[in-house]
Parts: sequence; structure tokens; C-alpha cells
Amino acid sequence: MGSNGNSTESWARRIRECRACGSTDWQNVVSLGEVPLANGFLEQGHSYDDEPRFPLEVVSCRGCRLLSLTHVVDPAVLFREYLYVTSPSETMKRHMRRVADLCEERFGIPAGSLVVEMGSNTGEQLAAFQEDRMRVLGVDPARDLAAVATEHGVRTLPEFFSATSAGHIREEHGPARLILGRHVFAHIDDIADVAAGVRQLLRSDGVFAIEVPYALDMLERNEFDTIYHEHLSYFMVDTLAAFFARHGLRVLDVEHLGVHGGSILVFVGHQDGPWPTRPVVDQMREKEQRAGLHDDSTYSGFACSVEETREALTRLVGELRAEGRRIAGYGAPAKGNTLLTTCGLGHGQLEFCTDTTELKQGKVLPGTHVPVRSPSYGKEHRPDYYLLLAWNYSEEIFRKERDYLEAGGRFIVPIPRPRVVTASSAN
Ligand code: TMP
Ligand code: ZN
Repeated sequence: MGSNGNSTESWARRIRECRACGSTDWQNVVSLGEVPLANGFLEQGHSYDDEPRFPLEVVSCRGCRLLSLTHVVDPAVLFREYLYVTSPSETMKRHMRRVADLCEERFGIPAGSLVVEMGSNTGEQLAAFQEDRMRVLGVDPARDLAAVATEHGVRTLPEFFSATSAGHIREEHGPARLILGRHVFAHIDDIADVAAGVRQLLRSDGVFAIEVPYALDMLERNEFDTIYHEHLSYFMVDTLAAFFARHGLRVLDVEHLGVHGGSILVFVGHQDGPWPTRPVVDQMREKEQRAGLHDDSTYSGFACSVEETREALTRLVGELRAEGRRIAGYGAPAKGNTLLTTCGLGHGQLEFCTDTTELKQGKVLPGTHVPVRSPSYGKEHRPDYYLLLAWNYSEEIFRKERDYLEAGGRFIVPIPRPRVVTASSAN
């Protein structure tokens, strides 16, 4: 355990078997060392000596090829007071509208249906369903965020979604036509319990839709910074299809989406429910097979790419600093903390990070303790280079920062391979 192992040991446990298939035959993929929690932003000026750190290691299950962290941090530590609020970005707003349309159109969900969302955060996604006159209910363990959502008219239970809470919801509200989980299924250790909850709460013709980062994209695009303690699992369609089949559920359809570096929206129904399985499900499983996701060599290749990228980024930043260039971080997303900590980039390299999230401003990044400032501070203290930590919004950000680029400002885009973007290369 970390430097203060005594107090943190009880916060994390090592996995004993694959959470999807029960196998214990693992390939070690990558070990990123002892790393602080990616959303563990700290108050400025305190002593940082007792900052907890946990091993950040990924293994691939040879039984079902689930990519998993070796250590599970207690979800109460991670999620009860959560600093991640859904980005108020155009990209996300558009995406949430699209998710609502996809679910409603593909599965003919009429107005008045019950839509339950797990990990509903501040309620933005459910608000899109509310616009379509659905009955909505959020379930999110972050008590502060659940209260914000409820205040804004999206009723939210401050709980973890589980077989128990699903049972209570059904008693009170009846069965759900749609259960949604966007970027939350990969955060959950006991996914069998979630599947049991879904079976209980979902109508016989209902749909469970989960959006998770796509492991194939992560591997092909070298998105190793999306590895952090909240992301316990990295899924491909094949792993999910096999998992749900073992739990009386069936993958019906999959949509491949661009958000968060490449994600899949996976639609699941009761095993014997009325919806057909679309051909895309098998097509994606075959594509995963062809891409080598069942082969050890793919994962060892990924580990090499991670190492090369870490070295290249550290070298590039070191050279720029040696030339006296001023660098700041653009965005303070959780994944930025994996990138900075595992590349050993800190306050010596980055003067500050800007972030639009007010809750993060004035704090320091976990691990590297780089101060987080507002975007307007960034405009007043314009760096020569911005390291684009929020690279998943690059298009939107380059558009927004046209003036910075036109004035000679540059971005370093770290993923998949570090490259410098100027006004003429930003598109
Ligand atoms: P996410 O990738 O997990 O949504 O996190 C993105 C972070 O980047 C979030 O903290 C908000 C921040 N951000 C900015 O600071 N400026 C921007 O223009 C965008 C789109 C995001
Ligand atoms: Zn497995």
C-alpha cells in the first residue's frame, strides 16, 4: 500500500477472481505504480504528506478478456462525495440528446414511461428524457450531486444501484421501461448484483442501456490515461455479451460513439424478451477477434505503446522547459491526473491547469499538486503551450481557443502520441 499504508489498507482490496466470469487466469498488462485517486483534488496549501496512493495495475482475464484493475478502492471513498460533474460542454449536451433519441427510437419508448438512471450525476441526461415527457428517477451515491439534481427537478435517490435498491424502486414506482447507466458500469465491482437489480426492475420489454469506454478504442488509440481507480473494468462487446448471457440478459444492439475517446452504448434486454438481437452485435464480436483482443500479444503491445508515449511526452515537455517555454494544462479531467502522475510531470513543468468546473478551481491536482485555475486566469497568464489533458474535447476546444492559437499559442495533444498543434494544424 501507499506511504501511509496503515490508514489506506482498509480502503482497497485486491481482486481474487474476474468479476465477469470468475476465472483467475490473468495476463499482467500494465503497472502504472502507486497512484493517488484521479478525482482526489486537494485544498491548496495543506500538507500533502498523507495523500493516499493505491496500486494502479491492469490485468486481462484469459477466460473472458475483461480488462480489470487489480485493486478495488472502496466505492464509498470514491463516490460518496464526488467532484466530477458532467461537463457543461456542447459536445456532452449534444451527446445526451442523441442518447435519449437512440433509446426512444430504437425501442419505441412512449412518453410517460419510467426511465431510471444509475450514476445520474447532476441529472443532465435525465433532463433530456424529461423534455420528452418521460417519468424519470436518478440513482446516484454522491449525496451532494443527488441533492443538486433533485433541486433542479430530477428526483434522485442518493444510493448505489443494487439488487436491493432496484427492488425498492420497483415497489415504489413500478417496473422501468428503460434503465440507463452512462459511464458507471465500468466503475462497479459487483456487476452481478447490478444485473440482478436490472432483472428485477426492468419490464419484460424494457431495455437496459449502458455506455462504457470501448476497450478496442483504448487499446488502438493508446488511451492509457483513461486508466484510473474509478475505472475497474474496460469492456469489449464480447465480454459483455458473455457476461449478460450468464445473468439471464441478452445484448440486443450496440452503437459505437465518439465520446470519451470512443465508447459503446450497449442495449440489453431480458434473455427471453421480445427484442431481436441485431447483427451488429456479432459483427463487433468478430471485429474484436480479428483485432486480436483475445491474444496476449495485443496486450503486451499496448504496454509497449504506453511506455513509449510516457517517454516521448516527458522528453517533449523537458525540451520545451529547457528552452524556457511556459506550459499549463488545459482541463483538469481525472485522466489528466493519470497522465501527469505516471509521466512524472508536476508543478516544475506545468504552472497551472485551467478547468471550467468551479468545484475544482482553487484546489490542486492529486499527486502533482499543480494548482487548478479558471479559464479566465488562463487568458490573463497565457502560457506558450497548453498540454491538452481534456483531449476528448479537442475539436470544441480548438474552436473555442482560436484566438489563443492565432496569437501563436500551441497545444500539446498527448494521446495517442504526443504532437504539437498550431493554428494551421488545428482543424
Ligand atoms: P471529462 O472528459 O471527464 O468530461 O472531463 C473534462 C474536464 O475538462 C472537466 O473537468 C471540464 C474540463 N473542460 C474544460 O476545462 N474546458 C473545456 O472546454 C471542456 C470541454 C472541458
Ligand atoms: Zn473473465
